[in-house]
Amino acid sequence: MVDRQPSFLVLKYLWLVLGSVIITASNSKLAGAYEADISGFINIDCGALESYTDNQNGLFYEPDTKYIDTGEIKDIIPNFTNYDGSHGRQRFNLRSFPLGKRNCYTLKPNHGANNNYFIRAVFEYGNYDDNNKIPVFDLYLGVTKWTTVRRAISIKEIIHVPSADYIDVCLVNIGKGIPYISALELRPVDNSIYRIPNVALSYYVRYDIGGDIVSRYKVDVYDRLWYGLKLDGWNYTYPAGPDIYNQSSDYKVPDEVMRTSATVDASSPLGISVNAPLDASGQLYIYFHFAELEELNDGQKRELRIELNGERNLTEPVILEYLKPVTINTTFPPINSERVQFNIYAADDSYLPPILNAVEMYEIIELRRSPTNLDDVHAMMKIKSVYGVKRNWQGDPCLPEEHRWDGVICSYDSSNNPPRIISLNLSWSRLTGEIDPSFASLTAIQYLYLNGNKLTGLVPADLIKKSKNGSLTLSVEGNPDICLSAASCKKNKKIVVPVVASIAAFSVFLITTLVIFWRLKMRKKQATVVLGKSESISENKNDTFAAKKRQFTYSDIVEITKNFETVLGKGGFGTVYHGYLDDTEVAVKLLSSSSAQGYKEFHSEVKLLMRVHHRNLTSLVGYCIEGTHMGIIYEYMAKGSLDQYFSGKHEGKNASILSWEDRMRIAVDAAQGLEYLHDGCKPPIIHRDVKSSNILLNEKLEAKIADFGVSRIFPIESGSHVCTGVVGTPGYLDPEYYSSNRLNKKSDIYSFGVVLLEIITSRPVILTALKNTHIRKWVNSMLAGGDIKSIVDPKLSGDFEINSAWKAVELALSCTSQSSSERPTMIEVVMELKECLALAMTPNGEGHPGNKSKGPKRMLTIDVNADEFSPSAR
Ligand SMILES: *[C@@H]1O[C@H](CO)[C@@H](O)[C@H](O)[C@H]1NC(C)=O
Ligand SMILES: *[C@@H]1O[C@H](CO)[C@@H](O)[C@H](O)[C@H]1NC(C)=O
Ligand SMILES: *[C@@H]1O[C@H](CO)[C@@H](O)[C@H](O)[C@H]1NC(C)=O
Ligand SMILES: *[C@@H]1O[C@H](CO)[C@@H](O)[C@H](O)[C@H]1NC(C)=O
Ligand SMILES: *[C@@H]1O[C@H](CO)[C@@H](O)[C@H](O)[C@H]1NC(C)=O
Ligand SMILES: *[C@@H]1O[C@H](CO)[C@@H](O)[C@H](O)[C@H]1NC(C)=O
Ligand SMILES: *[C@@H]1O[C@H](CO)[C@@H](O)[C@H](O)[C@H]1NC(C)=O
Repeated sequence: MVDRQPSFLVLKYLWLVLGSVIITASNSKLAGAYEADISGFINIDCGALESYTDNQNGLFYEPDTKYIDTGEIKDIIPNFTNYDGSHGRQRFNLRSFPLGKRNCYTLKPNHGANNNYFIRAVFEYGNYDDNNKIPVFDLYLGVTKWTTVRRAISIKEIIHVPSADYIDVCLVNIGKGIPYISALELRPVDNSIYRIPNVALSYYVRYDIGGDIVSRYKVDVYDRLWYGLKLDGWNYTYPAGPDIYNQSSDYKVPDEVMRTSATVDASSPLGISVNAPLDASGQLYIYFHFAELEELNDGQKRELRIELNGERNLTEPVILEYLKPVTINTTFPPINSERVQFNIYAADDSYLPPILNAVEMYEIIELRRSPTNLDDVHAMMKIKSVYGVKRNWQGDPCLPEEHRWDGVICSYDSSNNPPRIISLNLSWSRLTGEIDPSFASLTAIQYLYLNGNKLTGLVPADLIKKSKNGSLTLSVEGNPDICLSAASCKKNKKIVVPVVASIAAFSVFLITTLVIFWRLKMRKKQATVVLGKSESISENKNDTFAAKKRQFTYSDIVEITKNFETVLGKGGFGTVYHGYLDDTEVAVKLLSSSSAQGYKEFHSEVKLLMRVHHRNLTSLVGYCIEGTHMGIIYEYMAKGSLDQYFSGKHEGKNASILSWEDRMRIAVDAAQGLEYLHDGCKPPIIHRDVKSSNILLNEKLEAKIADFGVSRIFPIESGSHVCTGVVGTPGYLDPEYYSSNRLNKKSDIYSFGVVLLEIITSRPVILTALKNTHIRKWVNSMLAGGDIKSIVDPKLSGDFEINSAWKAVELALSCTSQSSSERPTMIEVVMELKECLALAMTPNGEGHPGNKSKGPKRMLTIDVNADEFSPSAR
């Protein structure tokens, strides 16, 4: 074999030196906008001041102002504008983005989701900033990195099937200069071509073999840029003739492109070699376009085979017929060599020499991440536009995680489900007008902060509903003209809201307002308020009926407990047994007849339990009063009481250690139960005996508050209530209540704070080993050393989220402040704990705005009255 060396050229910057664009005269200066709409084209000249019809391609370009609200308009230096080339006019000006790490254009193509689009972004630096330094930055297609822009002039194209009805094109600052963009274009492409599932095709090369110009729209219906390519050693054919190549191929390669081709001597291959893409991590995808341009004589045959890097044959041999376009597409694994070389041979020495008409290469971009839930995105876009929010609100709200929208917290799961928005903070954002219904369309939201704005009108009913049942923390205080019901909207144009100073921003307003309403209501029927005297809570007919239904006889109890077979626990009041009611497991508390105190407590507990229903309160299944036999049947809590986990009593039965996240979830549950008693019940109820042995866990580790035996219904008119005797458990007992005999909700909060300290530390409330030191004192003294790690349960071996732990300790200490006025309210506790939980679920506190840079919060509210701790130590 003689010289089989292919003739090739490295084609790296080729297009830059190519000549001028073909100009398809657009004779008719018809309204370009109309044209663009018909075709579904989007043509944006970034940084342009006005729209215009481009005199080269006849397309109507609009400025980018309606697609983006950030960035600055700049012109490139005039002597850069003197060239011919594609996108001549579009390159004269640009938009640069000195602010924000990510800036995005949102395109909404006419054809909607799940259709194929061709997107092109054009960049010419043109020394617009007089820095003579070409910026390098990343380009993203939605949440996926598309490519890096690093040259003085770049044209980037991608073919993509969006799953949403919008496409974000984002410029991301990677610290190597200010991102900028000159033009952005979108064209619909037929769904039968260039389409691989879950993959976008990023343009790498596209050549019109044998051509010597750049062709685009209108020559090409899809406005692909075809760069003419001629190499030494090739011969070219330009058969004349009528319109013979009429784009019958699905790929619609233009006649002008197909009509030119290259060929070589029959004895040698026709070769093309290009540099492998710079960041060639993925695969390449290639399209060869062939058409036989010669009428072949009998006995003549053109049959080709294609070899990649001399190593393997890419496809079966290709047989060409006169004027019939053939497209061969093929993919291949990542190429380790620096070069990608294709050789096209005649399949047999006796056949006609190889030809090639056009070739395209794409990099495969895997779309790994699902974008944020589409309903959430639509709601956020609506909110953004309704209130004109000006923040970094661009691109996907949740992704990439490091570019999440300000004020937004999302939930991400490992199985690549679309992220959901779980928290939105728009407090102090100068929002005006009504609360848009789209807030309620954020169906996964758990926290919504709208406080400190100028919002007016009615809070959407859905939001109120969700906040009432505890699935949403809603904060709307500090909006002067907002109301929670239609009636109050009319009557009270203004509700005066007291300023509530607290350790963080809390959603007190809602509760305050509800309390105001209750007060108004309660004034009318004050007679029913105080339990202490009458012991008779609302004896209305419904309750009596329900009570009858839930009443069991003593023999029922014997049957349910299988004659008191299994004891679950014992206390001063009596014994708790395990039992079955039908197929449901229950716990039966049987009062010991010797306890006189017990009868009163029993009675008050039954009454109470019949009134209160909350998923974080143990629910009453039934009760029994028969002579001296008194029993209460509760739902069975399979995992026992919380204290068993700390004391180690639980080991053996269930040796598992509660993870930090479990602990925070349990704390939230218990807090919600208490919050319901304090703020959800009318009149409020004070538990009076909050402790870890009264917090029970079910099979799913959901926590419920139990034992309402000593609870007090709390008269709403007075601030606190003087009681006849102090009730409670040592260690958990509020010292202020103990000394003053004055009971109020804050006493429960003290006790809850102690429980929280137990949850954090797994230590007993009274540390007998340390001369009976109270757990609060111990934590304070450990904190003086500044080391949170020594406070948190060592059994976790450091496996906890540090910011979450700081926050929890901070909260527990403020709950256990000596002075009740310094303790937070239960609703505040719930909110803070939910944040602890959110932090626990997002590793390294990533999910939390503000925490990332500041590190752990150390603004502890420390009770300096207490002798145990010197503030100067910190
Ligand atoms: C543009 O003009 C400036 C000033 O005349 C000159 O220094 C620079 O070299 C020119 N740049 C180009 C690309 O011609
Ligand atoms: C590749 O070609 C085959 C037919 O030869 C076609 O069915 C397929 O859709 C093409 N793939 C792409 C991604 O164009
Ligand atoms: C041109 O298109 C028509 C119908 O669309 C078809 O019948 C004809 O064969 C095509 N001609 C060529 C040369 O492909
Ligand atoms: C290319 O053109 C040269 C000169 O016309 C000719 O000698 C040669 O055979 C041609 N090669 C092919 C493959 O057509
Ligand atoms: C490709 O196939 C041809 C025969 O069809 C064979 O001669 C050639 O060696 C093959 N090339 C490679 C790299 O395997
Ligand atoms: C909400 O954002 C405001 C300011 O943007 C901040 O002061 C406040 O602490 C945030 N609230 C929460 C609960 O993150
Ligand atoms: C709260 O109410 C909302 C809307 O009514 C409902 O979707 C949600 O499941 C409820 N959550 C709880 C915990 O009851």
